[in-house]
Amino acid sequence: MRSGRRLTLGLVVAAMLLGSQGQALAGNKPAYRYPWLPVKARVADLLSRMSLDDKLGQMMQAERLGIKAPGDVAKAKLGSLLSGGSSQPTPNTTQAWADMYDNFQREALSTPLGIPLIYGVDAVHGHNGLYGATVYPHNIGLGATRNPALAKKIGRATAEEVSATGIDWDFAPCLCVSRNDRWGRTYESFGEVPELATSMSTIIDGLQGRSLSQPASVMATAKHYIGDGGTTGGVNEGNTQISEQELRKIHLPPFRAAVERGVGSVMVSYSSWNDVKLHANSYLINNVLKGELGFKGIVISDYNGVDKIDGKTGFTPEEVSASVNAGIDMIMVPFEYQKFIDTLRGEVQNGHVSQARIDDANRRILTKKFELGLFEHPLTDRKYMSTVGSKEHRDLAREAVRESQVLLKNDNNVLPLDKSRNKIFVAGKTADDLGNQTGGWTVGWQGASGPVTTGTTILQGIKQTAKPSSTVTYSKDGTGIDHSYDVAVAVVGETPYAETKGDRPASMGLDQTDLATLQKLHDSGVPTVVVLVSGRPLDIAQQLPQWDGLIESWLPGTEGQGVADVLFGAYNPTGKLPVTWMRSADQQPINVGDGKPALFPFGYGLSYRHGH
Ligand code: GLC
Repeated sequence: MRSGRRLTLGLVVAAMLLGSQGQALAGNKPAYRYPWLPVKARVADLLSRMSLDDKLGQMMQAERLGIKAPGDVAKAKLGSLLSGGSSQPTPNTTQAWADMYDNFQREALSTPLGIPLIYGVDAVHGHNGLYGATVYPHNIGLGATRNPALAKKIGRATAEEVSATGIDWDFAPCLCVSRNDRWGRTYESFGEVPELATSMSTIIDGLQGRSLSQPASVMATAKHYIGDGGTTGGVNEGNTQISEQELRKIHLPPFRAAVERGVGSVMVSYSSWNDVKLHANSYLINNVLKGELGFKGIVISDYNGVDKIDGKTGFTPEEVSASVNAGIDMIMVPFEYQKFIDTLRGEVQNGHVSQARIDDANRRILTKKFELGLFEHPLTDRKYMSTVGSKEHRDLAREAVRESQVLLKNDNNVLPLDKSRNKIFVAGKTADDLGNQTGGWTVGWQGASGPVTTGTTILQGIKQTAKPSSTVTYSKDGTGIDHSYDVAVAVVGETPYAETKGDRPASMGLDQTDLATLQKLHDSGVPTVVVLVSGRPLDIAQQLPQWDGLIESWLPGTEGQGVADVLFGAYNPTGKLPVTWMRSADQQPINVGDGKPALFPFGYGLSYRHGH
């Protein structure tokens, strides 16, 4: 370090030691304002200047929709905001997001200490809340690629698009290990064994870069700690009733990997472990995550997660102290943040929550804010705007789609399709439906059928690939099929859902619309290839014999051309099942190694014979 710097550092340290009157020695800025001071020292200096209410405000993450008037952020001294799954600015454009972020940030910076906000979103398969962003296959499809390097690239591309809107915190990846396909969040899992989530946690390196202060790096979140994918019956937010040995064997390894990768935050699961809510589980958060795994980042609650501890709406002083004492550092308290601050203040003043716990939470939060460079660069870095939905990112997404497709059946080599001399009949409710192929968490929390964003449908991909010498006919319900066609392609499956709305406690089969379409095609005698767009395996054993070909497409996202690439053999399928495929729904849960007879085993996936 140059001597001049050494002198200044000495003065600054002296200033810290002498307190505010020493400031004059080091210029007119408090020590935490010096970017070249060690983060630890900056945190210590800032913490020493904070009142209890400053500290309580830092621990609150409010929903953007909970900010009722300009000034609310500054008045409550909020440390963080989020946009939940359906909380987007109007218009839903990159510019509007960036302006929104910057306006909130300027308000936070106007407070006496000027501590910048950190803002979180669920960019779980691209910046999916932003209209026009690149949307990648959901995690279950990425699990089928078995390609950690691809996951890392997707993380980096996602971080660029998220940064273009100012946002600095991504509530991803979900490192859940989905053990029951009835679970509505199966598609958010990389697969049914911990090794898949562990290996694909490279997405964290893409999101966070070599360091959080690097341009376009965003803080990642390992979620949901712990055991969310192992609940009895696959009930979302349910009860994981397994031994500690099994919990550690199946659900802990991905979080260990994430901590070793330096993940900046961990989100607590709504679910319970043997009847104890994770949001009040001090052993698993304090002892295991923070103690044994040595996690030094931010533990954040889930959305209203503290409210749900006692199963009743609203939070009580007991729930507030239980969650903070369990090790939760930041509370995602979307609307009642002032009430939470007032309640927590009371719990500190009556000794139920120690000042040391409040300070520990603040050190964790402030450390990440300094590491992200938010004190130096608090506003949107608008040079990344051109990356949103860019060709480079869409090409990456297309590659991910290709590698995620799993070929499960190919009788008489019906696939790959001939793109030249071919009469192709395309049917199915999802053939020309971007919303169905992107699934939940796309522009809206639950997603929706129809043109929810921009991209290429599977039908458009087929039309763009077939030569003019071929004929491609589309009929959503299959009307018009006749034996003059060489092949029929039926794109069917699930319509979008997220979380509990996606739980399937009863039937796991195709819906009546799809069954009717498929029956028409079968009755015509035309060889039929089924492309199944779903967030999980479905109960299709009964219909399978009527199909000549079957590709599981998962939820491929905006780049449907990648599916056409596999259909026409531009890419020879390499995807492998990340989950065991049931013979019938009553086998659930069914997982590799449990001895149950599967329709298709974990790891199964065909390729085209050479010469095609
Ligand atoms: C949701 C989900 C969680 C998400 C959070 C914020 O309920 O459980 O995965 O990150 O709320 O949207």
